[in-house]
Amino acid sequence: MPRIIYITSDEQRFEIEAENGATVMETAIRAGVPGIEAECGGACSCATCHVYVDPSFAETLGGAEAMEADMLDFAWEPAPNSRLSCQIKVSDEMDGLVLRIPVRQS
Ligand code: FES
Repeated sequence: MPRIIYITSDEQRFEIEAENGATVMETAIRAGVPGIEAECGGACSCATCHVYVDPSFAETLGGAEAMEADMLDFAWEPAPNSRLSCQIKVSDEMDGLVLRIPVRQS
């Protein structure tokens, strides 16, 4: 199972074994990682699951699709490496993926 690493805004590190096919949002919520609110439950309509993707995984993950990119406009301090964690599905090639959680959600 791939390991996903979440780093909170106060530098707490959570290394979680994730199930393939789950989203990294679901993985974080199940594991009790703080800072991801996911108010819409993964419907890509709240932007409260915002994370920053480590640049070394940019190519593996690819970019946000149009609907996600539109929602990211509502995220707290979006950056070029911003993604909505409910739109990232875990797969083996994501082993070691590092996601930073912003200081607050929108
Ligand atoms: Fe609402 Fe991701 S959980 S946009």
